[in-house]
Amino acid sequence: MKNIAVFASGTGSNAKKIIEHFKNSPLARVSLIVSNKPGAGVLEIARNYEVPTLIIDKERFFDGDAYVPQLLEKQIGFIVLAGFLWKIPTKLIAAYPEKIINIHPALLPKYGGKGMYGSRVHEAVITAGDAESGISIHFVNEVYDDGRIIFQVSCPVTKEDTPETLAARVHALEHAHFPRIIEKLLSENK
Ligand code: GRF
Repeated sequence: MKNIAVFASGTGSNAKKIIEHFKNSPLARVSLIVSNKPGAGVLEIARNYEVPTLIIDKERFFDGDAYVPQLLEKQIGFIVLAGFLWKIPTKLIAAYPEKIINIHPALLPKYGGKGMYGSRVHEAVITAGDAESGISIHFVNEVYDDGRIIFQVSCPVTKEDTPETLAARVHALEHAHFPRIIEKLLSENK
């Protein structure tokens, strides 16, 4: 049984889907929700599903032990970033090689990098006049949105789309695929 930690800074709708997906799985369990925001919606979700939480502090994350001893002590074997906005420090990447993944709401390498999150991504796609967008699930390295891509799927962008309507379409894709891709990865590398 693998213990997954989901790192999230926001609403946590992906975290919710992942918790639900693994609730009765013999393969893995979401055993920890990590957040840098004490008021984040994801913490309410964690409470509802009785998943332990860890609120992290900037200084310790970036200049201290990056919470590695704590994660190891909780026997966390896999880390999923689902709307987590801080960069992952080298110490944490080194402790979890190829065991940290992120989801990005566009077709990387387009529309990635620092500051490209939330509605900014969808605004950029619409402004560029792209006919399609989508989601990218990738391994995390030291550069924002740069690690090896594991999975992508696209959706159309229509002329009538606003950042909100496109965001909703992309979110639906995330919910449909993210838990399943995590499961696939975990079952491939036991
Ligand atoms: C998702 O769109 C994800 O791609 C991005 O942050 C968003 C998180 O949404 N990295 P939610 O908090 O899971 O609803």
